[in-house]
Amino acid sequence: METPTSAPQPMTTQFQFQIEQIADGLVEKGYSVIDHFLSSHEVNSILQTDEFKNAKLQFKKAGIGNQQDKQINEGIRGDYIKWIDPQTAPLSVALYLKRLGELLQYLNKSLFLSLKDAEVHMTIYPIGTFYKRHLDQFKADDHRKLSVICYLNIDWAESDGGQLRMHLPEGPTDVLPVSGRLVCFRSDQIEHEVLVATRERLSLTGWIVDKKF
Ligand code: OGA
Ligand code: MN
Repeated sequence: METPTSAPQPMTTQFQFQIEQIADGLVEKGYSVIDHFLSSHEVNSILQTDEFKNAKLQFKKAGIGNQQDKQINEGIRGDYIKWIDPQTAPLSVALYLKRLGELLQYLNKSLFLSLKDAEVHMTIYPIGTFYKRHLDQFKADDHRKLSVICYLNIDWAESDGGQLRMHLPEGPTDVLPVSGRLVCFRSDQIEHEVLVATRERLSLTGWIVDKKF
């Protein structure tokens, strides 16, 4: 059993190092890839939550825009999502949200940003699905500043596919969605896509925004 602690925990040095690396990457390249942002124990705890265990029943097909044309939608993205309510999130997920909050505060302090909140959903790409090249910032809503994705796929191999492909000025860069890995990139700048996977692909997908929900 996990027991919540009331006293604030000191930031571990590994976590401090990781958030510094994220800040450096964002400044230098507009993105950062960090391994072991979640330990394998932490990933397993998230996968054991009722939400993920019953994902197929609970998750809804992700939509684009006003979703008037389902078939166009189908051709763009095939993932299923469930938004996380921070008030009712299980402990293992709440711990992840807490880390994102600490990351947000660190970025505000070190890069003089005014980030305010994070919105996160659980995501499942069934076998054979993908998300075509896109930008995460919408024309009508530019509050999404940073895209932050943490992968939950134990023993993911190159042959499983499902890479996140970022389209950078120097060319495409692929990131494998391996367990515990965090990717953070500028939502307004980096076009990206999710390649077809031959295994179900799980993640926590979120955005750090400059407005309060
Ligand atoms: C998205 C997205 C990338 C990934 O949900 O907008 O681009 O690697 N996800 O899951
Ligand atoms: Mn995206």
